[in-house]
Amino acid sequence: MALNANQQIKDYGNLTDPEKKHAPVIVAPDEAMAGNPFEVRVIVGNVPHVMDESHYISQVELYLDEEPVGKVQLKPTQGAAEVVFVVTGTEDMVAAREIRNCTVHGFGLCGACGTRSAIVKLTAVATCNVHGSWEDSKGIEIISANVRSGRKCTWGPQL
Ligand SMILES: [Fe+2]
Repeated sequence: MALNANQQIKDYGNLTDPEKKHAPVIVAPDEAMAGNPFEVRVIVGNVPHVMDESHYISQVELYLDEEPVGKVQLKPTQGAAEVVFVVTGTEDMVAAREIRNCTVHGFGLCGACGTRSAIVKLTAVATCNVHGSWEDSKGIEIISANVRSGRKCTWGPQL
């Protein structure tokens, strides 16, 4: 999404110490049906960040397709900086990409039944009271529940 000033991992193969402690880790399914809620767990840091009065993760935010899903304020006494959000993809997210009809933006089409899907971006932002805001993203495939009738799908979760 590029939420402006947020810091991001520069090299996933070689994380720096600040990146290990601050970049949010997004745990989510690879795919979900439009309209079906699913859980997304955001864990701050591959290495747990300290949570004490002078230095802690104060906030975790999640966005889906650049729209806010939720924002949770954390307290130093909280223990681990970890938040679970409930997220729902929409038919509109699939349709928006269908209109663009662009493989770059992740529109998928099943040749057998016309099941449509789109790769939509989950973006998490974690804020440290000392070291600022850190962002990372993960794609999730949102699959349309609207399948053309009379043709059996040979692709996707309906199998
Ligand atoms: Fe920090």
